[in-house]
Amino acid sequence: MIRNTICLLGGTGFVGRRLLSMLSKQGRHIRVLSRHPQRHRDIKILPGVELIQANVHDIVSLRQHFTDADAVINLVGILNERRDNGKEFHHVHVDLTRNIIHACQDRGVHRLLHMSALNADPAAASYYLRSKGVAEQLVLQARDLDVSCFRPSVIFGPGDSFINRFAAILKITPLFFPLACGYTRFAPVYVGDVAQAFTESLDMQASFGQRYDLCGPHSYTLQEIVEYVNQTLGLKRIVNPLGNNLSRLQAALLEHVPGKPFSKDNFRSLQVDSVCPKGSHDLQTCFGINPTGMKSIVPAYLLHQNQKHRYDRLRQHLPHPE
Ligand SMILES: NC(=O)c1ccc[n+]([C@@H]2O[C@H](COP(=O)([O-])OP(=O)(O)OC[C@H]3O[C@@H](n4cnc5c(N)ncnc54)[C@H](OP(=O)(O)O)[C@@H]3O)[C@@H](O)[C@H]2O)c1
Repeated sequence: MIRNTICLLGGTGFVGRRLLSMLSKQGRHIRVLSRHPQRHRDIKILPGVELIQANVHDIVSLRQHFTDADAVINLVGILNERRDNGKEFHHVHVDLTRNIIHACQDRGVHRLLHMSALNADPAAASYYLRSKGVAEQLVLQARDLDVSCFRPSVIFGPGDSFINRFAAILKITPLFFPLACGYTRFAPVYVGDVAQAFTESLDMQASFGQRYDLCGPHSYTLQEIVEYVNQTLGLKRIVNPLGNNLSRLQAALLEHVPGKPFSKDNFRSLQVDSVCPKGSHDLQTCFGINPTGMKSIVPAYLLHQNQKHRYDRLRQHLPHPE
């Protein structure tokens, strides 16, 4: 069965936009629910995309927009909460997922694609990973639903908030960059590969009831990744890895800085390596996707942004035409 009408939650974000353009190219009709459609109206240019203002936490609204949908995809997620108590994570990851399940069941939608995260576990120390783990359990146990669940390591690609964030911090760092949790390992996975796994699985019966760990072809410590960004940008910052106690202290301090560049919960989630179990290659074996390496993609968007930034700065100094 080809699923033509898709209701997409979180479709305005980093992963969502990439997935949206793939679904649009396949000729599907995609209903994107967003809290702030005005901010994302550029996506309406894609054929088949309908951008709808909706409160996704309201089950009545979900029921309304799930009507006649062939599938629902949930990408909604947050990486930080205002207070360090797990409540916001629970609301956005668990309560929302429960409402999505109920709305699917009420409206007779049988297909659900759910975005989780590697290391998601109801018993995790991090509130983020714990809430993602509870949500996974809910979707996989839901009756009358064919669910596929995706668990990526950190995702990179143009517009990401991982590589780009370190690039931005390195650029404003005077000389030494004190890096917390530099010992944690990641297997960065390309956003195009993640989006392709979603599109491949949509109509694939073999993916019903499955969980997929999504990893890139190589694993690196966080320090190796930051050093790589430093080198790619041609910067000469000295990356100083902090030990566990100083990393925890940095998290406690930066948690109070506007924008929360690092939090106590981020620190807890970084106590576990974000790499796939040895021998597991779900992208390749389940979807036939040859995972894309970080080093073949990152320089293009890091250097492009760098040039654009320099050009914008130059323009600021040009005399204004009379
Ligand atoms: N990026 C990664 O490295 C990574 C790694 C592993 C797992 N994941 C998971 O992948 C998913 C997508 O990640 P992303 O990087 O694309 O995230 P993103 O760019 O921050 O986008 C998140 C989306 O969720 C919606 N959203 C955010 N907060 C919300 C809230 N409080 N209530 C309702 N909707 C909210 C936003 O939609 P509107 O603002 O339009 O409403 C936005 O489209 C998330 O579930 C994330 O946990 C990401």
